[in-house]
Amino acid sequence: MNIRSVGVLGAGLMGSGIAEVCAKAGYETRVREVSEELAAKGLARLEGSLARAVEKKKLAPEERERARARLSATTQLSDLAGCDLIVEAIVEDLDVKKQTFRELDSLCKPETIFCSNTSSLTITEMAAATGRPDRFAGLHFFNPVPVMKLVEVVRTIATSEETEKTVLEFAKSLGKEPIRAQDNSGFIVNRLLVPYLLDAVRALEEGVGTREDIDRGMELGCGHPMGPLKLLDFVGLDTTYAIAEIMYDEYREKRFAPPPLLKRMVLAGRYGKKSGRGFYEYGESA
Ligand code: CAA
Ligand code: NAD
Repeated sequence: MNIRSVGVLGAGLMGSGIAEVCAKAGYETRVREVSEELAAKGLARLEGSLARAVEKKKLAPEERERARARLSATTQLSDLAGCDLIVEAIVEDLDVKKQTFRELDSLCKPETIFCSNTSSLTITEMAAATGRPDRFAGLHFFNPVPVMKLVEVVRTIATSEETEKTVLEFAKSLGKEPIRAQDNSGFIVNRLLVPYLLDAVRALEEGVGTREDIDRGMELGCGHPMGPLKLLDFVGLDTTYAIAEIMYDEYREKRFAPPPLLKRMVLAGRYGKKSGRGFYEYGESA
């Protein structure tokens, strides 16, 4: 299928990055948020990222103008009706995602391909809420989207071969390197990454080291670009908590259980970099 226009659901950390890479790759891109204020915040994040790319001479000013011209934001789901492919990047909550896909299914043309950027939910369950499980796949980007090369492409038992092929080609057209993963909670990367991140919270809880020493240990000792607590702040503690709950529910293994400290931090509104405070403090929310 020939993809020309892309709809992005959510303009949070991931949705704004996904919209940016789609617009830069030449797709007409329409982003949907739940309020004007959140749409504006998402577009401002995207603008900041474009400015950074221009400043670093990775993007010519004319290319930025062309990307901007391909981008628009809306609060109306019906404005995404004409899109050829939709990427969903809203909160990690199965009921909210299913409801959104159900509504979208009644609005979009039958050929439109639906993709979810979920970190931990099963694609099959979301697809089953629509009348197009054959045109439904997982398309899992990594944060920050404009920088990370990987995407996981997830084909369920109901996804057609043609849909998988189109989604793989679409991922490549964004300059990404796709890998294929089964529709298991957390796919490949989060299946390995999430227990490690949760263990770092347990290590902090148990007084194994200070936050700085835990992070420095993994940065300098293992060559990770960010220590686990910094990475948790970057991903979002609310999102990580939701991911851990879903993965624990799926596998019933202790390594996926969210540690009490993570829950307390979410309850206290410390969501990480995006809220201005997580394991570390930040000047302003991202
Ligand atoms: N948006 C756009 N571009 C960004 C960016 C952002 N938020 N942050 C950094 N960049 C770009 C910069 O322009 C810079 O490019 P140049 O090398 O050309 O200058 C490049 O990325 C490196 O940036 P910096 O030098 O400013 O910063 P850094 O060297 O500290 O790298 C980082 C920043 C790329 C984020 C790096 O710290 C990193 O790789 N961190 C780990 C990220 C990671 O593990 N992500 C996966 C999270 S898990 C996930 O996403 C899955 C899930 O479901 C939860
Ligand atoms: P976020 O909290 O930054 O953004 C989510 C956005 O979705 C919010 O702005 C919210 O207003 C919006 N939203 C909620 N319901 C909506 C709806 N019905 N329509 C449109 N917008 C709606 O979260 P995020 O970090 O961008 O995560 C989004 C998705 O991407 C989640 O499924 C998450 O698991 C996944 N993901 C996150 C990361 C990460 O590092 N944060 C990485 C890969 C995948």
